[in-house]
Amino acid sequence: MGSQLLKGKKGIIFGALDSKSIAWKVAELAYEAGAEFTLSNTPTAIRFGELNELSKKCNAEVIPADATNVQDLMHVFERSMEVLGGKVDFVLHSIGMSLNVRKKRVYSDLEYSYLNKTLDISAISFHKMLQVAYKLDAINEWGSVVALSYIAAQRVLYGYNDMADAKALLESIARSFGYIYGRDRKVRVNTVSQSPTITTAGSGVKGISGLIDFTERMSPLGNADAEDCANYCVALFSDLTRKVTMQNLYHDGGFSSMGMSLKAMAMYNKSLEIEMDQEELEALD
Ligand SMILES: NC(=O)c1ccc[n+]([C@@H]2O[C@H](COP(=O)([O-])OP(=O)(O)OC[C@H]3O[C@@H](n4cnc5c(N)ncnc54)[C@H](O)[C@@H]3O)[C@@H](O)[C@H]2O)c1
Repeated sequence: MGSQLLKGKKGIIFGALDSKSIAWKVAELAYEAGAEFTLSNTPTAIRFGELNELSKKCNAEVIPADATNVQDLMHVFERSMEVLGGKVDFVLHSIGMSLNVRKKRVYSDLEYSYLNKTLDISAISFHKMLQVAYKLDAINEWGSVVALSYIAAQRVLYGYNDMADAKALLESIARSFGYIYGRDRKVRVNTVSQSPTITTAGSGVKGISGLIDFTERMSPLGNADAEDCANYCVALFSDLTRKVTMQNLYHDGGFSSMGMSLKAMAMYNKSLEIEMDQEELEALD
């Protein structure tokens, strides 16, 4: 990126597991942009992931926390303010997990204890994070909180299972808390609805490779990758987006506005062995 867009800004980044993680890329680019921050993930993720490598690279302390545990979250915010020497300016929630997906329980045969966990980890943890930050008054005025979402919150995408419900709740929390945090403390809260991306969480989605090919063909700009997403998050943490709040922001190369594209139609027709005319084939070049 090269610019010091986040110079002087302090933050907390939740959810970097390994170098494929979207949060990992956000940390790298935020560091390049001049920010100072702490990193958080579960003790298990810290043990089995590569977070310590990122910590060294970005000179960032790692604070373990289960994001469903309010006490843990309080510790993350308190410790971050201690380490960084004051309130923070940005927070990234990059957390998602579904046991139903992991254990291959389909949407018409959910295990409800797993559903509760999906909602708690992937959505309610965002409310917990915001409530803890609000009560501790841990975010500076004009601060920015971003959570990562997916278009399955609005549209049915086969295989996304109960994560679709979690994302719908996540986006709703961004609006509801965004109102209160904006009104009382001038803090903005948004969700970024990202293209499908190959990461540990992404790879759990049924049919992810076919989905990525489909959305690539459907999106006029192609899929947004993790680095594109990180650039967008940095922009949202910066002062250039001070009046953007309570939004679900699509970051998907245009996919969310498409119905059918020439490239996707070509593939579909090919599978049905339908010939395309010369003009259509030329337009694909
Ligand atoms: N990969 C995609 O296709 C895609 C698309 C749109 C949105 N997203 C969202 O982006 C976010 C980041 O996912 P990713 O794709 O980078 O995958 P990832 O697997 O790298 O990140 C998910 C993170 O959630 C953490 N996590 C799980 N349970 C937790 C808990 N109880 N407390 C704290 N952290 C916990 C994991 O340790 C991991 O670091 C998720 O919200 C995901 O739904 C991903």
